[in-house]
Amino acid sequence: NKVVLAYSGGLDTSVIVKWLQETYNCEVVTFTADIGQGEEVEPARAKAEALGVKEIYIDDLREEFVRDFVFPMFRANTIYEGEYLLGTSIARPLISKRLIEIANETGADAISHGATGKGNDQVRFELGAYALKPGIQVIAPWREWDLTSRETLMAYCEEHNIPVDFSSKKKKSPYSMDANLLHISYEGGVLEDPWTEAEEDMWRWSVSPEAAPDVATYIDLTFEKGDIVAIDGERLSPAEVLAKLNKLGGDNGIGRLDIVENRYVGMKSRGCYETPGGTIILKAHRAIESITLDREVAHLKDSLMPKYAELIYNGYWWSPERQLLQNVIDESQEPVNGDVRLKLYKGGVHVVGRRSDDSLFDENIATFEDDAGAYDQKDAEGFIKLNALRMRIAANKGRKLL
Ligand code: ARG
Ligand code: SIN
Repeated sequence: NKVVLAYSGGLDTSVIVKWLQETYNCEVVTFTADIGQGEEVEPARAKAEALGVKEIYIDDLREEFVRDFVFPMFRANTIYEGEYLLGTSIARPLISKRLIEIANETGADAISHGATGKGNDQVRFELGAYALKPGIQVIAPWREWDLTSRETLMAYCEEHNIPVDFSSKKKKSPYSMDANLLHISYEGGVLEDPWTEAEEDMWRWSVSPEAAPDVATYIDLTFEKGDIVAIDGERLSPAEVLAKLNKLGGDNGIGRLDIVENRYVGMKSRGCYETPGGTIILKAHRAIESITLDREVAHLKDSLMPKYAELIYNGYWWSPERQLLQNVIDESQEPVNGDVRLKLYKGGVHVVGRRSDDSLFDENIATFEDDAGAYDQKDAEGFIKLNALRMRIAANKGRKLL
């Protein structure tokens, strides 16, 4: 009778600890991860201890997050609904995986999380958990309890002597936020009206493009098998790469997004996102693929991408179909090696150069100058005529297009 809780150390999940102990009369194991949210995770230990938790897990998962989740996703140039870089979506399968590992280690029979019953996150956590441990029980307090307002939640805290410093110290943000090394998201508050522009002081990771430097920043990114391994010639780990690109991007006003998206549970929701590093990676990755991938491989990959994005958004990371797609995507990245030079300027990411030992680009063939017989322009005549054949037949038979 033990439950592993994804515990942030914040007010909501602290209430959940008490609520689980009371409602289910169970031993709560807390799990707090550093995935680059930019907040100390160690304080969660003392808070959990104060709540009577005996088994406390605090993990630094930053490298694993970028290496095994963010980078594999970017190999596919993944974007949901043409805009969203899936910053929250891609972190959930890692949390699910750790929750289940800890459940196995501690002999827990249930997991719990602080996602509401209205969103995507509950689906992602739980699909992952069931896929990795079919017999696991899931407790989702937000779907069960009646502490649905800030006030009732605070009252519950007082009643149960939950240390009050959880909320009073910091000014409570008016937004529901979620941050990790890939992005920070904002939902709720004034954003619930899709016509209302976000206030400038909401954004935490980036300067506005207007306030960005008037001088462009140039960077060189080195790719190996589709992943960035060095910035300006300096070799970095995956998490270091992303952290550095976040800084460079944020300083140049890159990666802000304001969208209305379709949640898996059926509603539309408005969210603002800052994904500075991810925005740079996406642009650079497409540039290195542009010279290293065969045309049909690139197009096939592109045709699979929206499906792959949907799988991640909807919570199917730990599914056979995602695994299958990943194998195809990863295999395609074998020749995706080389350098991309970017110019970062006032919110824009501009590719200014690309080179690779695996390049398929042939200057001799592409040139507007004399190609010395590398390409016979006469061949194009038959190529075009045969491609036009079915249209000519149809036109001859009187098929009308206008
Ligand atoms: N709407 C985004 C998504 O579904 C972000 C969700 C943010 N989650 C949160 N707990 N605030 O991926
Ligand atoms: C939540 O409902 O917990 C956050 C939003 C989402 O999961 O989509």
